Amino acid sequence: MIADGRRANADRGDVLSMLLLAKDDDGVGLTDRQVRDEVMTLLLAGHETTANALTWTWYELGKYPEVLARLGPRRSGRWSAIAPSPSTICRRCRGTSR
Ligand code: HEM
Repeated sequence: MIADGRRANADRGDVLSMLLLAKDDDGVGLTDRQVRDEVMTLLLAGHETTANALTWTWYELGKYPEVLARLGPRRSGRWSAIAPSPSTICRRCRGTSR
């Protein structure tokens, strides 16, 4: 992917393009290894911090049902109405309506 990006040498509106086109004050860009490391940091640090934040948020909310109820959907009163189950997500990924 890095080699493809270098060949394209264009801003494709994604993080990889930005990293490949970035230059320091002396006009020097990142090496392939540096680009790879930056992408890995974004993916792993971004995933772990977000997953931890969401996990602890739901854990804490689980201890206070009255607070959770205030955050929930008002009309149906059911969280399942907006929180998709794993099977719902799988169906959506496959693009089927079953
Ligand atoms: C709830 C989610 C997140 C939390 C709590 C969080 C927290 C933090 C904190 C505290 C730092 C500063 C670390 C330090 O300077 O010692 C940091 C830096 C950073 N975070 Fe996050 N982060 C979150 C989400 C994300 C996401 C989604 C991404 C990427 C898609 C990301 C990418 C980065 C990067 C690249 C840095 C380093 C920035 C720099 O060069 O100084 N983070 N984050």
